[in-house]
Amino acid sequence: MTALTLSTAAAPGLRADAIVIGVAKNAKGLVVAPGAEAVDKAYDGRLAGVLETLGATGAEGEVTKLPAPSGFKAPVVVAVGLGSEPEKDAGFDAEALRRAAGVAARALAGAKKAAFALPITEAADAGVVGEGVLLGAYSFDAYKESGRQGQDAAKAKNGKAPLAEAALLGGKPRDKAYKAAIERAAAVSEELNRARDLVNTPPNELDPEAFAAVAQAAAKEHGIKVQVLDEKALTKGGYGGILGVGAGSAAGPRLVKLSYTSSKATKSLAFVGKGITYDSGGISLKPAGHNETMKCDMAGAAAVFAAVVAAARLGLEVNVTGWLALAENMPSGSATRPGDVLRMYSGKTVEVLNTDAEGRLVLADALWAASQEKPDAIIDVATLTGAMMLALGSRTYGVMANDDAFRAAVHEAAEEVGEPAWPMPLPEHLRKGMDSATADIANMGERMGGGLVAGLFLREFVGEGITWAHLDIAGPAFNEGGPFGYTPKGGTGTAVRTLVRVAELTAAGDLG
Ligand code: BES
Ligand code: MN
Ligand code: ZN
Repeated sequence: MTALTLSTAAAPGLRADAIVIGVAKNAKGLVVAPGAEAVDKAYDGRLAGVLETLGATGAEGEVTKLPAPSGFKAPVVVAVGLGSEPEKDAGFDAEALRRAAGVAARALAGAKKAAFALPITEAADAGVVGEGVLLGAYSFDAYKESGRQGQDAAKAKNGKAPLAEAALLGGKPRDKAYKAAIERAAAVSEELNRARDLVNTPPNELDPEAFAAVAQAAAKEHGIKVQVLDEKALTKGGYGGILGVGAGSAAGPRLVKLSYTSSKATKSLAFVGKGITYDSGGISLKPAGHNETMKCDMAGAAAVFAAVVAAARLGLEVNVTGWLALAENMPSGSATRPGDVLRMYSGKTVEVLNTDAEGRLVLADALWAASQEKPDAIIDVATLTGAMMLALGSRTYGVMANDDAFRAAVHEAAEEVGEPAWPMPLPEHLRKGMDSATADIANMGERMGGGLVAGLFLREFVGEGITWAHLDIAGPAFNEGGPFGYTPKGGTGTAVRTLVRVAELTAAGDLG
């Protein structure tokens, strides 16, 4: 993991492989962003003109490398685009800074040390740039020869080991607020990157038991209480949803409960994650072309896991319980069939009409389990429906809730941390599509509005009077395209930062 430091050094004397500066665009053309004054001065104030001659415009995502001016210890200047210059007196948008830092960190793969001379004028800016750097520098190569041999070997081989050290210039190393901001950035980003690793790990290596073992080890390290229910315990407890989904797999299901408690807490939150370590569809098998990326179907559980560990590392003054509903959805002679009826943990019966609508079944049991402890609010996170991807695309997740104010608060928290999200309704008329002739409810309803139908199904398993929100992250959980901003290809860690922010706001009594 990239090391973050705050530095008061001036750019010219800094020993580093590169100095990163920001550039933006305004009506007249390219402008050099604040923070890079010393660099511009060394080019005799002509840096903007030089960069324009090289074709730079200041657009978001743009990277231009040029030789450093004479007298600089660092050999290279990396100019990264921040997009439009903000209005006079307004600072750069936090997300623009985060993305630019991420783009630069990715462009610097293979480098040992880079100095970031971006517009940092307050502690929050340092946190945002730090997050962008740590998230953008991420790479997953555990299954490549370079990764197996470790980072030094990787660098020797192809120069592509992640950037080792980032010094943030303009930061105040002795200022408490600055220190806290980069410590927060490190805790959140490191756990988020761990969630990405879990999502990227192939499904033959990460089954429910293996995921539970990872959670147990991390819980031990961070003083989190952990409880794992295996098949025997799930059977004894009557968790028919989780057992039904896991019935076809040779790898048995698990329900993991992670409890972080603070002695100063007055509020409690429960986070519930869908953890299908592989979704083949089961007997309602997915066609080829729809299952190659289904190792990502545990991204909700990975996000919940990461958020609980981050809350513990930050010592947030709120109790947070994470529930990981882990199962592998496979077809076999022991698999649940379309037509089977499951008796859920809540006591309700569900007719399984499509075994590929499995996420709502494992979540139903975990939501009911979470409800028994009467938390102040529950948030579930799930790669739940293809319909939500059709509705919102691949970068925005949907937020549904049984309380409009809570839905708005969660949405606002998501926007604040730079995770695109959008509120979605739970229209009552869609409920009757799930009426079953045989059981209390069916696991499928109308095709149209499938993401909302899934949300309505989940709502039935939330305890009476408990505030609840549901995040359908099917779109942004896994990036099938090329990297952008601080988002890599593959697992993205989406929703981790929203959950951490909600926990922080709850601790401060500021939610809603
Ligand atoms: N895990 C899938 C949803 C999904 C699709 C996530 C694409 C990420 C990318 C989920 O279990 C599923 O199969 N949902 C079905 C539900 C349907 C059978 C009611 C779907 O969306 O097609
Ligand atoms: Mn499915
Ligand atoms: Zn699924």
